[in-house]
Amino acid sequence: MARKPLIVRTISPLRKAIATFRKKHGGVALVPTMGALHEGHFSLVRHARKRAGAVAVSIFVNPKQFAPTEDFGSYPRNFESDVVALSKLGVDLIWAPTETAMYPGGFSTAITPGGPALAGLEDAFRPHFFGGVATVVAKLFLQVTPDVAMFGQKDYQQLKVVTRMARDLDLPVKIVGCPTMREKDGLALSSRNVYLSVEERRTAPVLYRVLKESAARIKAGDALAAVLADGRAAIEKAGFKLDYLEGRHAETLEPVVSAADGPIRLLAAARLGRTRLIDNLGV
Ligand code: PAF
Repeated sequence: MARKPLIVRTISPLRKAIATFRKKHGGVALVPTMGALHEGHFSLVRHARKRAGAVAVSIFVNPKQFAPTEDFGSYPRNFESDVVALSKLGVDLIWAPTETAMYPGGFSTAITPGGPALAGLEDAFRPHFFGGVATVVAKLFLQVTPDVAMFGQKDYQQLKVVTRMARDLDLPVKIVGCPTMREKDGLALSSRNVYLSVEERRTAPVLYRVLKESAARIKAGDALAAVLADGRAAIEKAGFKLDYLEGRHAETLEPVVSAADGPIRLLAAARLGRTRLIDNLGV
């Protein structure tokens, strides 16, 4: 029978639990999440399990990474079913801080990430986002003190921002990027996919299809600018409102002119109705 993970909501019992796990299991792996868990998160947990004796999953819908116009209020919250799923996966600890445990009254410190956080991709459309992510992730690292932390490549710019931050601040944690999990038709798994109407869900895989076709053409030697122009047109023709489709250096996220400047990562964000989808693919 699945063993229910220890659920902790405040700092002091968290520290005690982590000390016990460390004594008993050695290393601790952290999977940071905002809940509404799906197969993408479960795959991060499985990767985490291979890397440490104890696995902690944090569940916290972080208000600091949502703009006032965004979906903080309606973001899916399925705590009970998340706990059931994490029990089945043998997770040892769920760190589900209350909002006051994470941001006590008078909280007034923030991390301002640079480098990949200013690449002109997600940051151009969600200027508040990476500051909020970096602040909460730094706090999660200081609270849980993991040896290793798993992040999905689906949020590719986020992965680079967190990796840069950990390096810049000498945080003693290894950041591991794990492959994007997809539906059979290619749509990247995301907690926000539940917002898609039936018709939008049918259209949604176009984003990945365009990324795949673009990557294949670039590999075959087609000019990057022409491939991206075709890709942008195809995404818009399918009914998306495109935020960006870009080819960037896979490590620095700096702009590239041709495949020779590579390795290249294609990154896209587009809206279908009220749902904003992001995806990316290596060339
Ligand atoms: O990717 C997410 O779910 C969130 O941005 C994270 C890393 C848990 C920080 O709130």
